[in-house]
Amino acid sequence: MKIGWIGLGHMGLPMATNLYNAGYDIKVWNRDIKKAEKSGLPYVKNLEELLDDREIIITMLFDSKSVEEVYEKILETGKDIKGKIFIDMTTIYPDTAKKIAEMLIKNEAEFLEAPVIGSVIPAKKGLLTIVVSGDEKIFQKCKEIFSILGKEIFYMGDYGVASTMKLVNNTVLGNFLTALCEAVILAEKSGIPREKAIKVLSHGAGKSMILEAKKDKLLHENYDTHFSVNLIHKDLGYAVDLGQEKKVPLLITSTSHQLYNSARAYNLGDLDFSAVLEIFKKLSNIS
Ligand SMILES: NC(=O)c1ccc[n+]([C@@H]2O[C@H](COP(=O)([O-])OP(=O)(O)OC[C@H]3O[C@@H](n4cnc5c(N)ncnc54)[C@H](OP(=O)(O)O)[C@@H]3O)[C@@H](O)[C@H]2O)c1
Repeated sequence: MKIGWIGLGHMGLPMATNLYNAGYDIKVWNRDIKKAEKSGLPYVKNLEELLDDREIIITMLFDSKSVEEVYEKILETGKDIKGKIFIDMTTIYPDTAKKIAEMLIKNEAEFLEAPVIGSVIPAKKGLLTIVVSGDEKIFQKCKEIFSILGKEIFYMGDYGVASTMKLVNNTVLGNFLTALCEAVILAEKSGIPREKAIKVLSHGAGKSMILEAKKDKLLHENYDTHFSVNLIHKDLGYAVDLGQEKKVPLLITSTSHQLYNSARAYNLGDLDFSAVLEIFKKLSNIS
């Protein structure tokens, strides 16, 4: 099947590259066309071209707003999208996924909502976890594509459920990292060197995929972006909104959300979310 890929950010580029390397006929498009030119992948210069001959179109964008904008543009092209399969892999608010599904189904196209768990390194290795909502027959049709991008694939049922599960996962991710930062600073200000504290934590209560992935960043304060502060701030904001909707008070998540918000205020938004350590340092007057 001919694939069109929209969005070549930190995640989109390695994921599209994996499909290309697996032999798929893929063409990519990115809003900042320079990223498409540099990608080493076959690319088109505008969205319309992508819609002409592609059977499956995958989007990996930033947030709900960007996803709505891109799908509205797709419909505004007036191209016939009947029978095409669209898959959105962005982390978005569950109601947005439902809205996009409705828009596409009205135009006789198919839609799967398939956000991913795991960051840049699992994306490069094709080891993501993928949660998928939508028509199960269409999911089965696309399973081979998902199996190139990820290792664990979960079918979640109706629209909105996969996005909800993704937000649930990221409450753990965002809160666990702020808890780790708090612990590391407590150790440091009590005279325990950061390296030793991280080592002990990685054999104690901190032992986790998250500490494993972030320990070097926390130790060397190297915040090269894998998953940005702006993205975790977006996800925790969606989670807090969902908590409001469902009447579930998200007390811990709200606090973490504000810590990442503070990181944005210090212009750390584009850095890796481990840069929230800098906020804990400021709060405890560590330079
Ligand atoms: N990074 C991770 O570790 C990770 C892990 C799991 C899930 N996710 C989720 O996956 C998604 C992508 O993450 P990422 O790290 O790849 O983000 P990113 O590096 O910021 O890339 C965002 C992509 O979206 C495009 N975009 C943004 N707004 C747009 C708009 N209005 N119209 C068209 N294109 C637009 C950007 O295009 P330009 O290049 O033109 O700006 C870029 O290609 C996010 O929803 C994130 O929450 C990320």
